Amino acid sequence: MISTLLLKPRDIAQAIALLKAGEIVAIPTETVYGLAADATDSAAIQKIFSAKNRPSDHPLIVHIDALDKISDWFEAVPPRAQQLMERFWPGPLTIVLPKRNTVNDLITGGAPTVALRMPQHPIMREIIRQLGHAIVAPSANAHQKISPTHPTHVLKTLNGKIAAIIDDGICAVGIESTIIDLSKPVPTILRPGPITAAMIATVLGVTVICPVTHDEKVSGNMQHHYQPEKPLFLLPIEAIANLAVTEKNIAIIHYSMIKQYDHITYYQMSAIKAEYAKNLYRVLHAVDNTSATKILLEIPPLQSEWSDIHDRLRKAAQK
Ligand code: TXA
Ligand code: MG
Repeated sequence: MISTLLLKPRDIAQAIALLKAGEIVAIPTETVYGLAADATDSAAIQKIFSAKNRPSDHPLIVHIDALDKISDWFEAVPPRAQQLMERFWPGPLTIVLPKRNTVNDLITGGAPTVALRMPQHPIMREIIRQLGHAIVAPSANAHQKISPTHPTHVLKTLNGKIAAIIDDGICAVGIESTIIDLSKPVPTILRPGPITAAMIATVLGVTVICPVTHDEKVSGNMQHHYQPEKPLFLLPIEAIANLAVTEKNIAIIHYSMIKQYDHITYYQMSAIKAEYAKNLYRVLHAVDNTSATKILLEIPPLQSEWSDIHDRLRKAAQK
């Protein structure tokens, strides 16, 4: 156990000093909090895997602050990648392409590709800039737990295992970046996210596929991932309304109007996708802190814009 320092945004010099000393630090990004290590420091990268209890063959995303760093990582930048970077970087889009042979296998889990993202959050960007190296950062949570969108969520599973955390409150986007694999003939979404398949297809002018399951080693692709501590059931609002009459000690997460009983805890979500995404993990973490024994969650709207929410909830729900 080490004692995890709680830092403020004004303390970034301290965070950078810790990273330079080979420590790992939770840093806010626009999507979720990331657990950062200097991408050139193998010992620090190892600390990420042990703190998270993450299998070593699960590759990490490399975060850069400027386009001139891309050539350190990708073997080449095809026109499609160029177009997506111009349109969506900095922002919640991670691009997978063949790696340069100098890229550390610890980062890629031995894969021939590497995942790269230029985040938008000013704190993350400033830290990468001042550190002078790229940062590898998975979500700052124990393996298979819900991603953190607030420092209290990070502390829940990583307190005492990481050197520090920078508290910048709630993350603006609230759901992990879209991961697109451009190493294949057809652009393939490995993890749906805030940048949708339709947005990408519009920029590229080609079909983009988004398989529901694939064999890539994306941890979000595993059966049990993003799991809250309590069993979660995805149901239509009518079924939830019926269960609410008899069930005790449950929590209901919904966006439609529903009759409310005193013995149930309700979480009213927005029907606007960006608002819903911003609050989903916060609400799931909040329910975990209550005495509710199960979570009934109203199936979100079915439009394709919501596919990242459906992806995460499918993995969080009871099978
Ligand atoms: O929004 C995000 O992407 C956040 C913030 C902190 O940037 N990061 C994040 O990292 O969600 P993580 O490690 O929790 O999820 C990254 C996913 C993993 O499932 C990993 O397997 C996949 O990216 N990944 C990394 N490199 C890959 C590669 N070369 N090929 C395929 N998938 C890869
Ligand atoms: Mg993660």
